[in-house]
Amino acid sequence: MATERTFPIIKPDAPARNLTGAINAVIEKSGLRIVAQKRVRWTRAQAEKFYEEHKARPFYGELADFMTSGPIVLQVLEGEGAIAKYREVMGATDPKEAKDGTIRKLFAVSKAETSTHGSDSPAAADREIALNFRLDEIVG
Ligand code: CDP
Ligand code: MG
Repeated sequence: MATERTFPIIKPDAPARNLTGAINAVIEKSGLRIVAQKRVRWTRAQAEKFYEEHKARPFYGELADFMTSGPIVLQVLEGEGAIAKYREVMGATDPKEAKDGTIRKLFAVSKAETSTHGSDSPAAADREIALNFRLDEIVG
């Protein structure tokens, strides 16, 4: 399997509870490497653009509200098969369905406040990284 990059976000519910380091510990224990990271606050326009694939879904407005409710941590992770691997480390969207040891099982509040985002395909990872990082901010 090839070395890949994926794009996580530590979502507002987690920094609000001082869980950034705890989530990063799970990431690093999985073998994935954090090669870029910055704490920011998104505008509503940034949140709506990032999640535009969900525009027609009933939760779109609430998702934009949530993602702009506090600081978030944008990341790039690198590793073998990083995209699928981080989806596994993250766990199912609904924390009640997430497997033991996953970030969402450990930390997520609900299927809305899911503690972390992870890219779901190589095309999504490329788009999400390009939207959020300059190339010189990623140091592999
Ligand atoms: O984040 P993931 O890829 O697992 O799930 P998604 O279906 O792509 O949904 C994106 C995000 O929308 C979730 O992580 C939740 O924050 C939010 N969401 C929600 O608020 N209510 C739902 N029923 C489903 C998702
Ligand atoms: Mg998704």
